[in-house]
Amino acid sequence: MSETARLSLQGKEVDLPLIIGSENEVGIDISSLRSETGAVTVDVGYKNTGSTTSSITYLDGEAGILRHRGYSIEDLAENATFMEVAYLLINGELPTQQEYEDWDYQIRHHTLVNEDMENIFKAWPTGSHPMGQLTAMISSLSSFYPESLNPNPNEEDQHRTIRRLIAKMPTIVAMLHKKNLGHPIIYPKNKLDYVSNFLNMTFKNVTEDYEIDPIFVEAMNKLLILHADHEQNCSASTVRIVGSAHSNLYACIAAGIAALWGPLHGGANQKVIEMLEAIREDGGDARKFIAKAKDKNDPFRLMGFGHRVYKNYDPRALIIKKSCDDILNKLGVKDPVLDIAKQLEETALADDYFVERKLFPNVDFYSGIIYRAMGFPVEMFTVLFALGRLPGWIAQWKEMRDQNQPIGRPRQIYTGHVKRDWTARALR
Ligand code: SDX
Repeated sequence: MSETARLSLQGKEVDLPLIIGSENEVGIDISSLRSETGAVTVDVGYKNTGSTTSSITYLDGEAGILRHRGYSIEDLAENATFMEVAYLLINGELPTQQEYEDWDYQIRHHTLVNEDMENIFKAWPTGSHPMGQLTAMISSLSSFYPESLNPNPNEEDQHRTIRRLIAKMPTIVAMLHKKNLGHPIIYPKNKLDYVSNFLNMTFKNVTEDYEIDPIFVEAMNKLLILHADHEQNCSASTVRIVGSAHSNLYACIAAGIAALWGPLHGGANQKVIEMLEAIREDGGDARKFIAKAKDKNDPFRLMGFGHRVYKNYDPRALIIKKSCDDILNKLGVKDPVLDIAKQLEETALADDYFVERKLFPNVDFYSGIIYRAMGFPVEMFTVLFALGRLPGWIAQWKEMRDQNQPIGRPRQIYTGHVKRDWTARALR
């Protein structure tokens, strides 16, 4: 295969080098384009533009493949713990037994947050969305750990901040849940593993004992793994570009949380449940909502459907869908919206509009049904997505910093007024 792509532009020809990935993906390196031709490329939404090379996650949207550091999402969801996947994403390899014990010990012993963090809650009105609260709480960590403001942290400083984020985010998420219920917060217990500790802080109440259900642990562990990373999605790209300015890691993660909040991104899992409830309250006829989703004059979209990369079934959605029946049966929960979701999927996947556009259920379509069965309020669903995505964001940030990438600053094509003279207000 030729190692270059030839571009013919306004009578000039330039050869642009190719970047061939380990899965034979082909990228055209245009880093010399402007200096050689004066031209830039334009690709609104970056649908055809790679921002980086990366060795963290591989997606094949046509084949519905997702791998982290070479391991399939199916293998990881079936066999790994979320802490193992977090270690894999951040360090590049699955941990040995000793490495895992060290990592697990470090995380278990950094779960407390500064007591003053609870004061931040006094500023919020009742009913504040937990994603806005989480953005602020994670960003505020740089106030409690000012050494994190060093724009060029050494490896140990970097690792300390990474450990603090992984260890403290579950504590903060559980705190949000409790404070928004008006309940006393439950402190972490170092003797509990990551997922059990999170469930205990979230669902135990201060007056009673709480028995950690292994079904909950297994379901939560799997859901966190399925959300752990997804290459250059909107929020990971946000973390990278904020990190490219050498902002501190807490600020970068807060920016990623803000991007994930959007209903076209991670916010979709909350919107899916609200959509399914609306269908149920409207009598349960999915076809009416399918028609709305197809109507160009109607802003309604089938939330949880479609994906920028997957033009086949999102492998994560497949795993979650399979788990839905299993977990709800084990929990003895009968959720009518699960049947509506399945009916909606079946109707949509038989409709040319969705088939022609290759719109399949994505990771957000079924996840909320499990979260709801476990007792999480719908406003917390995207917070749970962020909890799972944290190690992926950290891995993406670390790779960008390790590669000494320059500050991200896209170009543009100006289409406004050409130069014109000032006119006094009286003459306008
Ligand atoms: C996530 O990038 C990632 O990896 C994200 C993520 C991750 O793990 O980080 O996978 C997580 O964000 C999943 C996506 C969650 N969002 C939703 O479920 C919201 C609903 N879906 C869409 O809004 C949409 O599908 C996107 C945002 C996901 C993708 O949008 P694109 O790639 O920009 O595609 P598009 O909007 O250009 O749509 C192409 C066509 C359009 O129709 P035409 O103009 O060609 O006639 O498909 C239509 C769209 O109108 N379309 C939909 C639709 N999604 C796309 N029509 C109805 N319902 C939908 N859900």
